[in-house]
Amino acid sequence: MSQIADARDEVARRAAGRLDGKVALITGGASGIGLATVERFVAEGAKVLFCDLDPRQGRALGERIGETAARLHHRRREDGGPNDGFAIAGRLGDAAVFIPCDVTDAAALARAFAAAQEHFGGLDILVNNAGVGGGEVSIEGCDEALFDRTIAVNLKAVWRGMKLAFPLLRARGGGSIVTTSSISALLGMPGQGAYGASKAGVLQLTRVAAMEGARDLIRANAVCPGGIVTPIIYDSPLMQDGFGKAAVERGLAASQPLPIAGQPEDIANAILWLASDESRFVTGQTVPVDGGLTAEFDSRHRKPLADG
Ligand SMILES: NC(=O)c1ccc[n+]([C@@H]2O[C@H](COP(=O)([O-])OP(=O)(O)OC[C@H]3O[C@@H](n4cnc5c(N)ncnc54)[C@H](O)[C@@H]3O)[C@@H](O)[C@H]2O)c1
Repeated sequence: MSQIADARDEVARRAAGRLDGKVALITGGASGIGLATVERFVAEGAKVLFCDLDPRQGRALGERIGETAARLHHRRREDGGPNDGFAIAGRLGDAAVFIPCDVTDAAALARAFAAAQEHFGGLDILVNNAGVGGGEVSIEGCDEALFDRTIAVNLKAVWRGMKLAFPLLRARGGGSIVTTSSISALLGMPGQGAYGASKAGVLQLTRVAAMEGARDLIRANAVCPGGIVTPIIYDSPLMQDGFGKAAVERGLAASQPLPIAGQPEDIANAILWLASDESRFVTGQTVPVDGGLTAEFDSRHRKPLADG
């Protein structure tokens, strides 16, 4: 009898979403890794608020933060475009709500956290994912506005998100904070001074948040994606012309030990595990999801693919 009950429980467990009953806030959720994470979380039963730049902002952003900094934000973030958060939320139904929000705007980000309470009654998971980068050229070539904007989006807004999340997660008896860092935090990459420093900074914030949150069962972890096929690479607004997506896919497939191009879903899957209770004993950690890139001593030792 108990074996039958156990089997029935197992079937029910497998049918259940891995995030059933959870509420998540995901920043930078209208594109790439963030969008894949929003979709995966909804499929696993979560209620999701996601924020991204307002698709209606048009030229207002340039006027507010200056043209140099505004170039960091993608031209594709347009009303009615493929990365219009309102349209994405409409497609996903009641489980997803889009909150237009620049994460560097303290009041707007606070409103996004308040919306989690209003719409879904609280918060269990924060995914700090919004990010900008690419095309800095060098430390010498990087100007003040670019450096400041990169740090403001990739580092300071992550600290702000953690600060806003803590009381909400504590009120639920615990929760999970996952931050998208980068392998640029782990390796010296030319042309990634501001970006690499911002991504290394969030790893330390993650460790400190893990220590400060542990007693309240608030966990904090970070993923470090390798090269992933998203617009931040093939359509960086800091480059004159984007790369073709197919060319990026081919290039990335050859750039690490696993001969496949990393996709946004590969990172979303890692974020899902860190966000869910399956990782309840994991905190303060950095998880590279990079096809083995950061484990490799020297790519010249790789066997050519033709040798099998
Ligand atoms: N694609 C990669 O190879 C790669 C590698 C390592 C780390 N990452 C990191 O992954 C995260 C997601 O990037 P992606 O690759 O999906 O690129 P992406 O450009 O497709 O997505 C980033 C999203 O963040 C949003 N965003 C930027 N600034 C914002 C702001 N101030 N407020 C709100 N939203 C803002 C953008 O509008 C965009 O929708 C970033 O933190 C990025 O640094 C990406």
